[in-house]
Amino acid sequence: MKKITEAQSGKVEWQSPSNIAIVKYWGKHGNQMPANPSLSFTLSTSYSQTAMEFDVDPSRKAFEMNFAFEGEAAPKFGERIRQYFERNSADFPYLNNLKLNISSKNSFPHSAGIASSASAMSALAMCITSIESRLFGGFAEKSMFRMRASHLARLASGSAARSVYGGLVAWGESESIADSSDYYAVPVNDNLHDTFRSFHDTILIVDASEKKVSSTAGHKLMNNHPYAEMRYFMARQHMEDLGGIMESGDVEKFGEILENEAMSLHGLMMTSKPSYMLMRPNTIRIIELIKEVREAEKFPWYFTLDAGPNVHLMYPHEVESQARSYINDLLAPHTQNGLVLYDQVGSGPRKITE
Ligand code: PMV
Repeated sequence: MKKITEAQSGKVEWQSPSNIAIVKYWGKHGNQMPANPSLSFTLSTSYSQTAMEFDVDPSRKAFEMNFAFEGEAAPKFGERIRQYFERNSADFPYLNNLKLNISSKNSFPHSAGIASSASAMSALAMCITSIESRLFGGFAEKSMFRMRASHLARLASGSAARSVYGGLVAWGESESIADSSDYYAVPVNDNLHDTFRSFHDTILIVDASEKKVSSTAGHKLMNNHPYAEMRYFMARQHMEDLGGIMESGDVEKFGEILENEAMSLHGLMMTSKPSYMLMRPNTIRIIELIKEVREAEKFPWYFTLDAGPNVHLMYPHEVESQARSYINDLLAPHTQNGLVLYDQVGSGPRKITE
């Protein structure tokens, strides 16, 4: 990167969606390097929208920033962002010349208890990359912009690396995915079957309160986990198996892996030292009902879980209206205050202004 020689200011703004992992990232080493490759669908209606006013001045000697969430100062999250910049200052050689006014909001309810770090941190990374593009005269190739954004998002939150692309996205080196990398995510949409391009993810909110054990603490517990090696082996195996499944559109085989991944993730939590459990009684009730309907009605829907109690219910677009009626009648009564968020596979971040 060239040295900043003259003052520049402006504003950039991006919307960036959350994602739902099919193969879970769980366990890391070094500076946010994944212990295994992961695969996710980028969502559509659950997004963060972040605006950044920047002022770069070579006479400034220390990084300055302000952060507001939904119109109000948010010191805790602001501090996390400041630490992110300072911890990764080697990536931002212009940091001490920079002043940022950041404001962010989410499309989903504040207290929905859904993981917002992927959307928030990918929106942040898209904004920083836009600023860099302005300061240093653009990127030689369009793909370099996203690669840089994914790298910067990963350094803030691993799963956020995947949200800079739409559709199906892989992060972490995998033999079965060309050009995959531990440093940034890559889109894998070329041969994706149509059924997965419009797949639905309905999020059934079981408990919206902040979780007892953070993802950061959970990743750490994988360091001495007795099942770690087998888990990483299984994740790689699932990546390989999903290659053909995502191309052929085999929803049943997709669903088997999806559910196995969710149970493995939570099984790892329950067998960590110390052990912990994020599922709540209604998580299990909802999972049982999903399976009952699937078996009794031959209905093609499957669940997954993030690091939390809420259930992500996934199904093809063709069965949407029947799914909605089962959800309203059978599943919504087991959610917290009927909170159900309808989402589906989306096309990735969207630039608002520049
Ligand atoms: O991105 P992090 O560090 O919050 O980890 C997220 C891990 C899971 O959401 C549980 C799985 C995943 O791959 O998204």
